[in-house]
Amino acid sequence: MKGKHESYLDKSNLPDHIAIIMDGNGRWAKRKGIDRLSGHREGMKSVRTVVNAARELGIGFVTLFAFSEQNWHRPKSEVHALMELLKQFLIKENSRLLENGIKLNAIGRLRELPPDVNQVLNDTIELTKNCNMLTLTLALSYGGREEIIDAVKKIVSSGNLASHDVNELSFSQYLYTVDLKEPDLLIRTSGEFRISNFLLWQLAYTEIYVTKTLWPDFRRRHLIKAILNFQNRERRFGLTSDQTRKRKVR
Ligand code: IPE
Ligand code: IPE
Ligand code: MG
Repeated sequence: MKGKHESYLDKSNLPDHIAIIMDGNGRWAKRKGIDRLSGHREGMKSVRTVVNAARELGIGFVTLFAFSEQNWHRPKSEVHALMELLKQFLIKENSRLLENGIKLNAIGRLRELPPDVNQVLNDTIELTKNCNMLTLTLALSYGGREEIIDAVKKIVSSGNLASHDVNELSFSQYLYTVDLKEPDLLIRTSGEFRISNFLLWQLAYTEIYVTKTLWPDFRRRHLIKAILNFQNRERRFGLTSDQTRKRKVR
């Protein structure tokens, strides 16, 4: 159902790529006096809702921070439950992704995932590879510093990039995000003002929106609110306001 805010959206100025740090599942559960896993389970509903809303709005790319490299250090039982939940999610959702034209993609040190999770992930990526309505990227076992280190390792070990050829464009070809454009909008839920090792390179000029809403409470209307906020920003990329306005007119 369309809410009242939605009619204010400028369809000609939508962010093409939205990245989200889905945070606050644990605190959501704590407030309710239930276990953290229930918070993660409820967070999956937000994933479904937000991805569908983004697709309906015509957003081309959504990238979700689902599990960080540092999250491996959480209690074993929570890590195990999160991996199980991810697997169940992929099994349950794959036909819906296909029906809705959603192409699944994943970034991170995927080889660190349990083999069964990796298998379902790869199967779903393969199944949806020709979908072209929205690219949904899951950041799994992901860290921004790790990504940069992995890129340097690839460059050094391949021997294909001489030092005078290293520049932003050539370097970015070695990142996990080689097929993605940089995010226009980063949303972080649960009110924390930090990046937590997410997309360190790619967020250089991304607009950041922080909301106190906890991820399991995040719904379509919250996404719309974030986009409306984005539409009131002036992206200057280091230029002056005057230069930016002239560029827009041209
Ligand atoms: C985000 O919620 C989900 C993951 C990091 C996997 P958290 O589990 O971090 O929830 P809080 O921050 O403890 O509330
Ligand atoms: C960031 O949230 C990682 C994900 C959302 C997957 P965290 O809860 O792990 O980050 P910190 O600990 O608040 O920085
Ligand atoms: Mg957290």
